[in-house]
Amino acid sequence: MKLHRFDRALRLLRREGFRSLLDRVLLELRRPALRRPALPWLLLDPEDATPIGMTSLEERAFLRAWAERTWDGQGEIVDLGSWLGSSAIPLARGVRNNPRCSDPRGRVHAYDRFRWESWMAAFLDAGLDEGDSFEPLFLRQLGDLAALVTPHAGDLAAATRPPGAQIALLFHDAAKSPELDLAVRRAFFPALSPGSSLLIDQDFAHWFAPWVHLSRFRLRASLEPLLHLPASGSLVFRVAAPFEVAELERPVVAEALDDAEVAAAFEWALSLVTPPMGANVWAARVKLELDRGRLDHARRHLARARELGLRGLDLRRAAAALGELQGAPAAP
Ligand SMILES: C[S@@+](CC[C@H](N)C(=O)[O-])C[C@H]1O[C@@H](n2cnc3c(N)ncnc32)[C@H](O)[C@@H]1O
Repeated sequence: MKLHRFDRALRLLRREGFRSLLDRVLLELRRPALRRPALPWLLLDPEDATPIGMTSLEERAFLRAWAERTWDGQGEIVDLGSWLGSSAIPLARGVRNNPRCSDPRGRVHAYDRFRWESWMAAFLDAGLDEGDSFEPLFLRQLGDLAALVTPHAGDLAAATRPPGAQIALLFHDAAKSPELDLAVRRAFFPALSPGSSLLIDQDFAHWFAPWVHLSRFRLRASLEPLLHLPASGSLVFRVAAPFEVAELERPVVAEALDDAEVAAAFEWALSLVTPPMGANVWAARVKLELDRGRLDHARRHLARARELGLRGLDLRRAAAALGELQGAPAAP
């Protein structure tokens, strides 16, 4: 099931055109490669490149290294939005090699609907139809690591965390709507242990999920930003203090947001990511204004991105979304 870079490039070209492909190539050229890692202690491993998935080498290396060398074997490891397992696999590889883990079986909990959606074909031509289960593909990719992984198939909106357990690491790649992120905060965050647990927000350096930036800003008294994994969406937080339940459960409602809070949240979020991924965080700010139906504000934030020297990547997607809305017939 190996998908070559060339195939991926062709798919991106077909899906989003030449400018997006050029952005990606430029990013890849600046990207830490196996020979030139941005975080040398991550010990990138060619085996991490094998699984088909949407995570970067740095994300995979970080997850494997943490599970092997930092995890003390206590609590569970949770992977939300596992798709074909590109994060569950390095986690399981780390668990397998961790001498402090006395019982590795099923310790990585992989949550997903495991139902095929048409957009996934841009990453893999699996020959599946909308709604088909892709759990067999996930299990095939895991191979003999499957013994270390507990799949939880179903809608995360109604999911519960592994029974009775503290969560040592939560890899969150399922903040796909404000409602889903709220459900995850409610169900999983209370089991993160202050002082040791990690929350990794994979949707952080991404334009699609502005509710993540708002929500984490509101929770910042409990979240210590540790690092942004370069050239990826992932922001790694250490849980520094217990969460306030009221804050955890507070919905992010785009229409009801205060402008001063939004401005502070995005300045904060921008300060946490490594260049050039700031473009994606700022694009989320533009997307938020689109969600609020404030096209003039979205336009202003796109202009501000240029002043800040932010270019390309998700900003192009946000600009295209704005263009589409401007071209749309006025609401009655
Ligand atoms: C961007 S993909 C994750 C990519 C993956 N982490 C990887 O390593 O390649 C998002 C995943 O979230 C899952 N997902 C989205 N909404 C969900 C929901 N409400 N409940 C469960 N899974 C969901 C999708 O099925 C998809 O596999």
